[in-house]
Amino acid sequence: MSLTIAIDGPAASGKGTLSRRIASHYGYRHLDTGLTYRAVAKALIDAGQPLDDEEAAIDAARTFDISDMRRDVLAAHEIGEAASKVAVMPGVRSALVARQRDFAAQSRGAVLDGRDIGTVVCPDAPVKLYVTASPEVRARRRYHEILSNGGEADEEAILADILKRDERDMGRADSPLKPADGAHLIDTSEMTIEAAFRAAREYIDAAL
Ligand code: C5P
Repeated sequence: MSLTIAIDGPAASGKGTLSRRIASHYGYRHLDTGLTYRAVAKALIDAGQPLDDEEAAIDAARTFDISDMRRDVLAAHEIGEAASKVAVMPGVRSALVARQRDFAAQSRGAVLDGRDIGTVVCPDAPVKLYVTASPEVRARRRYHEILSNGGEADEEAILADILKRDERDMGRADSPLKPADGAHLIDTSEMTIEAAFRAAREYIDAAL
């Protein structure tokens, strides 16, 4: 049997790593829906259009090539910030949600991760996970990630950015980030990725 698995959580909670691990273990396709919002933001930036141009953003949301989204190209911090701005526009959300649902429907087993997967995109998913960690732990992880990639970073500034992004994602009117009904909570603040994966597997295996 194959399932749709819905994974939500705030920035740097560990949900991306966990989602990839789950998809590879069960042989399911994976869609990082954050990349779809990032792709729209990047299209606007590249075209020199303002981020609040809803018509241009909807057009980009309908037409960008979903099979060509590259994490390395879309990873920049500024693109994440810009993505959270385009993500407040309902027209952008409905265009992207339609494409995310198509992805799930066309897959024999799919893992989708984002902010509104269990609440809006796939509310009937048989397994929903809400992955979180304290803002301080998330900031520290991001900080070490940047350092280990040879970059420079200021942990305080990262924490401030994380709090600002949480506020925008949890406070917006359309599809705010919150645990879906029936979601299993996984708090990774004091967990290794291996322990989080074990917890997720128990929920998934029980649904198979
Ligand atoms: O997860 P990531 O940092 O790539 O997401 C970038 C931004 O896209 C988030 O801060 C959020 O505003 C938006 N997003 C969303 N709904 C999703 C996935 C991402 O609103 N399902």
